[in-house]
Amino acid sequence: MNMKSNDTAADIVQQDLEHIRASAAEELAQLAGRRLLITGGAGFLGYYLVQTITHFNATRSAGRPVDLTVFDNFSRGIPSWLRGLGSKLNLVRHDVRHPLPADMGHFDFIIHAASIASPTIYRLDPIGTMDANVNGLRALLEYFKGQKEAGRPVGGFLFYSSSEIYGDPDAANIPTPESYRGCVSCTGPRACYDEAKRYGETLCVNFARQHGLPVKSARPFNNYGPGLRITDGRVIPDFARDVLAGRDIVMLSDGRATRTFCYSADAVAGYYKVLVRGRAGEAYNIGVEKPEISMAQLGEKITALGADLYGYRGKVVRKSSGDADYLVDNPNRRCPIIDKARRELGYEPKIDLDEGLRRSMVWYGDNREGMA
Ligand SMILES: NC(=O)c1ccc[n+]([C@@H]2O[C@H](COP(=O)([O-])OP(=O)(O)OC[C@H]3O[C@@H](n4cnc5c(N)ncnc54)[C@H](O)[C@@H]3O)[C@@H](O)[C@H]2O)c1
Repeated sequence: MNMKSNDTAADIVQQDLEHIRASAAEELAQLAGRRLLITGGAGFLGYYLVQTITHFNATRSAGRPVDLTVFDNFSRGIPSWLRGLGSKLNLVRHDVRHPLPADMGHFDFIIHAASIASPTIYRLDPIGTMDANVNGLRALLEYFKGQKEAGRPVGGFLFYSSSEIYGDPDAANIPTPESYRGCVSCTGPRACYDEAKRYGETLCVNFARQHGLPVKSARPFNNYGPGLRITDGRVIPDFARDVLAGRDIVMLSDGRATRTFCYSADAVAGYYKVLVRGRAGEAYNIGVEKPEISMAQLGEKITALGADLYGYRGKVVRKSSGDADYLVDNPNRRCPIIDKARRELGYEPKIDLDEGLRRSMVWYGDNREGMA
C-alpha cells in the first residue's frame, strides 16, 4: 500500500534523534570523549541507541566524539541502517555467550542489550536466551570489575532487564512499582527469559555492592517504534504488516490483555539517563503510565491509522496461534509506575501513543524488509 503522509521515514528518524538529544542532553555530554560499548546494538533498541551517538557526534560533540563500539552476533544479519553507518563506529561480530575478545581495550561505559526480546523468537532457543543474559552479563561485569581494578575510569554499566521480571502481577500491584517482587513461573515457556533477567539483576546488584561498581538495570515496558523489524513477531509490527499487506489484522488472542506502550525515542532517552545518572545497584522502570489499552483497542487504532495513511480497508479478525505456547504465562495487564525514574533521573516521556503509532506506521511504510 502507498503512503499518504507529509513525513517520510527519514524525517521521523531525524525528529526522533533530535528529541532524544534534547531529552538526554546532559547525559550525552557526559559521554563525550569517552569509550562506549553497546552489545546487541543491531537490534530494535540498538537502532536509536546507536544512532543517538552518531547523531550526537555529528552535531554536538564539539570535537570530543563518543568512541562507539557495537558487539552483536548478527544472528538476523547486519541491518542495512547499521551497515550504512560505516566508519562512524566500530562494528564487531561477537556472540556474548562466548569469552570476550582478549584485545577489546578499555570502555568507560557499557550497555548490555544483547538478548532476543521477542517471545516468539526467544522460545526457539531458550538456553541461548538464558546464556546471553546470565553468562554474557557475567563476563561483561567481570571485565568491568577488572577495568576498575586496573585503575581505569568506570563511568557506568547498564543491564537491560525487563518488565517481564514482574511476571503476571496481581491486581493490587498494577500499576507496578520497582519494589514489587513479581509473580513469575520458573519453569513455563517464558521462564528462560524472565528468570534470566531476574538473575541478571541479582548479579548487577551484587557487583555494585560487593565491588563498588556503577552497575544499574533498566526495566523496559513494551517499547515500540522505528527499528522494530516488521518481522519481529511483536504485536505492533505484526499489525503493521497486515495493514501494509492490505489484509485483515489478525489478532492471536481474545484481545483483552492490556499494555501501556512506550515510544522508543522516549525510552532511549531514559536508558541514557539510567546509564549515566542511575544509582549503582538500582533498577528503573522505563515506560509510560497511560493509556493502558487492550489489544482489541490497539487493533482499532492501527486500523484507523492504516485508513488515514494508506487508505487501508481491512478489519480486525481473531485466530488462534499455531504456537501452543503463544499465550502461556502472558501477563493479563502490564502498566508501570515511573515515579522513580522521573524523580531520580528527570525521565519524562513526551510522545503520546497516537503520535508514536503514527510515526511507527510511517516508518514501516519505508521499512518492510522481509515482509511476507
Ligand atoms: N523492546 C522492548 O520492549 C524490551 C522490553 C523488555 C526488555 N528488553 C530488553 O532490551 C534489550 C534489547 O531489546 P530489543 O528489543 O532491542 O531486542 P532485539 O531482539 O531487537 O535485539 C537484540 C539484539 O541482540 C543481539 N543478540 C542476541 N543474542 C546475542 C548474543 N548471544 N550475542 C550477541 N548479540 C546477541 C541480536 O542479534 C539483536 O541484534 C534486550 O536485552 C531485551 O531483553 C526490550
